[in-house]
Amino acid sequence: MTFPGRSASPGAPGPRRSRRTVLRGAALASAGVAATCLTGCEHRYEAKPEAPDEPVELGPADEVPVGEARLYERARLLVSRPEEDTFLAWSAVCTHLGCLLSPPEGTVAECPCHNSRFDTVDGGRPLAGPAYEPLLPVPVRVNDEGVLVAGESS
Ligand code: FES
Repeated sequence: MTFPGRSASPGAPGPRRSRRTVLRGAALASAGVAATCLTGCEHRYEAKPEAPDEPVELGPADEVPVGEARLYERARLLVSRPEEDTFLAWSAVCTHLGCLLSPPEGTVAECPCHNSRFDTVDGGRPLAGPAYEPLLPVPVRVNDEGVLVAGESS
């Protein structure tokens, strides 16, 4: 079997070499993506979106203005507040390649790596790609002291 731009030589493996070449190409392509993000995406966590294992106190609920959203960078969470007594929390890890989202403008959070945008009120849905999966929702509540508590056991 010959490939365009290659000459067949005696003893040269055909399909096996091509599979290896394809795999090597895929690895190099992945490395290229990683290298691009390592140099251009200081917010890359190489993480998957996930909810905290334990409840996390984020701070006073009033730090999230009504009609806006806030990034909690250390906890890697976003909290939006569409109404006075309604809080929604999301993983702030982009569903594309795992970068941390930027602080939201209004209720829209943007990824600094490839500019995906997410609606933090309407199901965390992507408004612009390349991400096509919505943000991961995280349970959140306001405790008796008015503090936002996020996580599975909150
Ligand atoms: S990591 Fe690519 S858009 Fe967020």
